Amino acid sequence: MPAYASIEAARADFPGTERLTYMNVSARGLMPQRARDSIDRMLDERQFGDSDKPAMFDLIERTRDSYARLINAQIDEIAFVKNVSEGLNAIIAAFPWQSGDNVVLCQDLEHPNNVYPWRNLARRFGVEIRTVSPREGTIPTDEIIDQIDENTRMVTASSVTFAPGFKTDLAPIGDVCRKKDILFLVDGVQSVGILHTDVEALKIDAMSVSTQKGLLGLYGMGFLYCRTDWAERLEPAYLARFGVDLGESGAHEASLGDGDYALMPAARRFDLGNYNYVGVAAADASMTMMHELGTQAIEDHTVGLAHNFARGMLELGLPVCGGEPGPHLGSIIPVGAIGEGQHDTTDDPAMSSLHDHLADNGVQLSIRRGILRFSLHFYNNADDVDRVLDLTRTWRGHNRAAVG
Ligand SMILES: Cc1ncc(COP(=O)(O)O)c(C=O)c1O
Repeated sequence: MPAYASIEAARADFPGTERLTYMNVSARGLMPQRARDSIDRMLDERQFGDSDKPAMFDLIERTRDSYARLINAQIDEIAFVKNVSEGLNAIIAAFPWQSGDNVVLCQDLEHPNNVYPWRNLARRFGVEIRTVSPREGTIPTDEIIDQIDENTRMVTASSVTFAPGFKTDLAPIGDVCRKKDILFLVDGVQSVGILHTDVEALKIDAMSVSTQKGLLGLYGMGFLYCRTDWAERLEPAYLARFGVDLGESGAHEASLGDGDYALMPAARRFDLGNYNYVGVAAADASMTMMHELGTQAIEDHTVGLAHNFARGMLELGLPVCGGEPGPHLGSIIPVGAIGEGQHDTTDDPAMSSLHDHLADNGVQLSIRRGILRFSLHFYNNADDVDRVLDLTRTWRGHNRAAVG
């Protein structure tokens, strides 16, 4: 496998960057060639009957370890899930809820997949949802903390929201939760792989991600982190062979122990049956690349570009949400007015026109809640930023009235 001299050089492994100016990792990232090669190798084995099950299990453990290292967790603290919602639901369903318990979150900024599991809980078990309002497009950490009371069992937040895409200041929430023995559950899909993530430092108890965004892998594949101390107090709602510990007996994957059983250590108890090996092969290859480049270097490169992009847009008179880049801004630059439209469309004719102009010129971006969402990863470079700023300048020349 090629090892790259620099982040800039690693761009060569992303053929997608040659065709498009790709600023859409918030929807799905570009896949590197080496992930495609891993998938192809696995499909060849399947097609020609060469699949090697022990090698597939080795891949699972290697990838579990790789993901653990990516977020500073222990290998046993990682389970395989298929997406964010499955991981969140695994934790939520394993908790012994009682009527009157509550959860604190900022409902308006969470993805629906981190809202419906709580509504389900409210309906089924009478759990109270305590929600706070967004502040200037961010999740207000202080208000989340203020809402915590003696009945709070979990607090949940996205590390970066899907719209407008700002960072959440997680550490103070984690700190309070740790002191009060409240489980702090994070939706990490908009940041993991892009922003350096240390679950120990942030005091995150559980975190779910899927691999199609910052982890540059496939849909239908994800990881669940759960800190040992919490995981070993939880009883999974779903249980299958890989969640059961048959000890050192050398037990085969299909062996059944005697009547009683022990759960696997830590988060391994959330593994069920066979894995999405193809999805794992892709994630393994992409994460290997991230380890080679270094997660802090990836963050520095990507956030640096994003901040330059935001400043450039502001200089052109564009309405960048949140204004000047600051600690709220990671790798997603939202442009437009919050609440001016829907998923994939905006009610603001100027933003709609800018979106179409960029899309017609080979720029990939998305619209969420009416805002243009430009999102970057380490395969982006300064030329991408300059190109979109140049296209925006040209568009503005013809639409001066629209941007004032
Ligand atoms: C913050 C956030 N959470 C969750 C999801 C999706 O959840 P799932 O992986 O369960 O489809 C997305 C986007 O697709 C998202 O942006």
